[in-house]
Amino acid sequence: MIQPVLDARGISVHYGGVTALDEVDIAVGPGQVVGLIGPNGAGKTTFIDALTGFVRHEGTVRLDGVDLKRKRPHARVQAGLGRTWQAVDLFDDLSVAENIAVAAHRPTLVSTLRELLGATLPQSAAVASSLEALDIAHLAEARPRELAEGQRKLVGIARSLAAAPKVLCLDEPAAGLDTDESAVLGQQLRRLADDGQSMLLIDHDISFVFGTCDHVVVLEFGKVIAAGLPGDVKNDPRVIAAYLGTAAASISGERS
Ligand SMILES: Nc1ncnc2c1ncn2[C@@H]1O[C@H](COP(=O)(O)OP(=O)(O)OP(=O)(O)O)[C@@H](O)[C@H]1O
Ligand SMILES: [Mg+2]
Repeated sequence: MIQPVLDARGISVHYGGVTALDEVDIAVGPGQVVGLIGPNGAGKTTFIDALTGFVRHEGTVRLDGVDLKRKRPHARVQAGLGRTWQAVDLFDDLSVAENIAVAAHRPTLVSTLRELLGATLPQSAAVASSLEALDIAHLAEARPRELAEGQRKLVGIARSLAAAPKVLCLDEPAAGLDTDESAVLGQQLRRLADDGQSMLLIDHDISFVFGTCDHVVVLEFGKVIAAGLPGDVKNDPRVIAAYLGTAAASISGERS
C-alpha cells in the first residue's frame, strides 16, 4: 500500500484483567474503506475508542505519519480522526443544517476574533459541502423528527464529515436500517471514498460491509483472525467458523 492515512500498530487495550484488544494492526489508505467485523464483544468499538483516545491503549496510532500518542480525544479530532456513534443523537429542536453546524464548530482564537469582527459566516460552507457529499442537501431545513432512520444516519455521518476528517470511523451505521436503506448508505459511502475520503467501517450487516469495503479485517476475542479482500475473507474457513456460519452462503453483491 502507498503511505496509509491511518496506521495503527500493535493496539492493545485492557479493561481490568480482560484483554479487549491484543496487538491489532489496521491501516487505511487514501480513499479506502476498511471494514472491521467480528462477533459481539470482539473489540470493534474498543478499537475506535482506542484510535480516538477514549480508552488507554498500547501501540501506536499514526495519522498521515503523525504519532497521536498522548493526544487527548479533542486533539485527535483536530488532527483528523472523525467518528460516529452507535446511537445517532440529533437535537430535535434544531434543523438538520443547524445540527451539523453545531458539530462543525471548532472555535480557535482566530475564528473567534473573526466572528467578533463579523468577518465570517459560521461554518456554512462546511455544512453545505457535507450535506452535498451525502446527497441530502434537500434535507437542510428539515427537523430530525421528520426523517426516516436511514436519513438520520446520513445526517449523523454528515455531522462528522463537516469537520473534514482524514479518516472517518463509522460504528454500525447500518444498524436499524432496512435492506434498501443499507444499500443507499453503502452507495453514498462508496461515493465518498471514491472522492478520496478514507473510512473505517464497523457493521454487523455482512452484505453491506462486503459490498462497500476494499479490505476487511475480522476480529475475534480481540485478535485479528483474518484480513484481506472481501472475497478472500468471506471464504476463509476460520472466519466462517467464528462468525459467518451459514450466513456466508447468502452473502451477495460484494466487491472482490
Ligand atoms: N468500558 C468497559 N469496561 C470493561 N469492559 C469493557 C468496556 N467496554 C467494553 N468492554 C469489554 O471489552 C470487550 C470488547 O467490547 P466491544 O464493545 O469493543 O465489542 P464490539 O466488538 O464493539 O461488540 P458489539 O458488536 O456488541 O458492539 C467485551 O468483552 C466488552 O465486554
Ligand atoms: Mg460495538
